[in-house]
Amino acid sequence: MNHKILEGKKGIIFGALDDQSIAWKAALAVNQAGGEFVLTNSPLAIRMGKIEELAQQTGSQTIACDATSLEDLNHLIEKSTEILNSKLDFVLHSIGMSVNVRKKRHYTNLKYDWLAKGWDISAVSFHKLLQTLYKSDKMNQWGSIVALSYIAAQRTFPNYSDMAENKAYLESVARSFGYYFGKEKKVRVNTISQSPTPTTAGKGVKGLDAFLNFAQANSPLGNATALDCAHYIVSLFSDYTRKVTLQNLYNDGGFSMVGVSEEILTKFLE
Ligand code: NAI
Repeated sequence: MNHKILEGKKGIIFGALDDQSIAWKAALAVNQAGGEFVLTNSPLAIRMGKIEELAQQTGSQTIACDATSLEDLNHLIEKSTEILNSKLDFVLHSIGMSVNVRKKRHYTNLKYDWLAKGWDISAVSFHKLLQTLYKSDKMNQWGSIVALSYIAAQRTFPNYSDMAENKAYLESVARSFGYYFGKEKKVRVNTISQSPTPTTAGKGVKGLDAFLNFAQANSPLGNATALDCAHYIVSLFSDYTRKVTLQNLYNDGGFSMVGVSEEILTKFLE
């Protein structure tokens, strides 16, 4: 896809850890579509990950930011608008982490200080980001803000644990804050509910391969890859989606609307 539909648009991309990350593919796709951006991740991820490779490939600068810290967020937004010499047209929040999932703690036995940390990183950070952007008035009119979600916000999936609540909260923040951002600033706020995807965060969920195979068999178009998600993000940052806001948008090959596929039924006939 080689359409320059983001020419002249500038923004910030959170969450590119390595070349499997959805944010990594999104950064390459936004770059290809003519957008300019600052890349950011937590200080630890910047030290351990490969973000500098991506920065070189896309001619971007990188600024460390722990997305749970208001001080870091203020600094990031201030510096980014200086570097880009402009207010922002787009922001991608591609951040998720549950300590309980990472440490394989069962949902019926959660540690609540771990739950609180995961909630802050995965969900409240989105409110913090929106509030910082809103108060600093650093979004251009008709700008677009996108965060990434998963269908466990609506339906039960084993092993997704407290991330299900985090995603439900994240989607609600998009609607609630999106209302004010729309009314006061003409900025849209949406979440994309993405197919299971083999990334560092995805692989943290026990049995990801089974999730992937089940979703693949139950989706008429097959699972959406990280690259498919990147292309959807580009469309949501573009002027072609100016009146789309407060939505949770499924990018899942049709999975969310299928009861059961013939492939899955056939397995039970065997
Ligand atoms: P990833 O592991 O590549 O990205 C997660 C990112 O969150 C990492 O770059 C990590 O450094 C960052 N992060 C963690 N704590 C942070 C903090 N305190 N401050 C700033 N950044 C922090 O994995 P992936 O899959 O690309 O995840 C991106 C988003 O997509 C997440 O919201 C995830 O929940 C969501 N998603 C992933 C799916 C999957 O199956 N992989 C499915 C649906 C949604």
